[in-house]
Amino acid sequence: MRVTLRQLEVFEAVARLESFTRAAQSLHLSQPGVSMQIKQLEESIGLPLFEQLGKKIHLTAAGEEMYNYSLSIGQLLHEAETVIEELKGVQSGRLAISVATTASHFATRLLAAFSQQYEGVTISLDITNRESLRRQLENNEPDLVIMGQPPEGVDVESTTFMENRLVMIAPADHLLANEKNIPLARFSNEQFVVRETGSGTRSAIERFFNEHGVRFNTAIEMSSNEAIKQAVEADLGLGIVSIHTLELELETHRLVILDVEDFPIIRHWHIVQRSGKRLSPVAQAFKNFVLAEAANFIRLPK
Ligand code: PGA
Repeated sequence: MRVTLRQLEVFEAVARLESFTRAAQSLHLSQPGVSMQIKQLEESIGLPLFEQLGKKIHLTAAGEEMYNYSLSIGQLLHEAETVIEELKGVQSGRLAISVATTASHFATRLLAAFSQQYEGVTISLDITNRESLRRQLENNEPDLVIMGQPPEGVDVESTTFMENRLVMIAPADHLLANEKNIPLARFSNEQFVVRETGSGTRSAIERFFNEHGVRFNTAIEMSSNEAIKQAVEADLGLGIVSIHTLELELETHRLVILDVEDFPIIRHWHIVQRSGKRLSPVAQAFKNFVLAEAANFIRLPK
């Protein structure tokens, strides 16, 4: 068999994403480029790897076998890379970090501070949703993940490193802007602009209202905290967001935090890795840095 690592990488992406188009996007290749790699791989093993049933593609029996081998080969290569990086030490190497949408509001600052100390390190940062973080951890892709709540169903090690307060926001001229300790029940008829299902913030809010027996009405869903803040400013509804997203809007008095009974909702940020993962020296240094220094580099609004 004359199989190349590139062919295996492309095949693994098509099999995992169940789509030539999505694999092409994720690898920054053209779709004909992806099809060509798969065709060459099929020619060199002498059997088809995929079959088309309706609109979906499925792995053939040979495809299933190759998929398992391509995962093992991918992991071995990753391990080899880690070992080589151990030999090189912390001053060079690559660091792959994935963070939840909300964590991106402080992760860039942390990475900037880290890279000033370790100038030779190349960093890649992926900002994505909870489901995708879970899948990445399952496939052992990133070195470390920063998220609100470790995922269920994947064997991970996680450490808490910072509080994450969710606060209720309103336009600066809102009727309740100056009231103190507003009863939660007052919001049972209000409309909220909320994050998408699957966001950690969204599930924490729903759990909170549920536990307090107060109805929670959603006016509109948005997958970005920035969009939510703009919607609240434009009076589309109230919002509940992490305090980490708010610095500028509070400073410029475009939004206010309402003083609501039992608020803020207290959550915590976690740094997460696959259980038993052998961290490269760079990844270990970054983890230590986050645990020791996060609070010094992350300014919170007063
Ligand atoms: P998210 O934040 O709402 O952007 O997913 C992560 C979390 O708080 O769990």
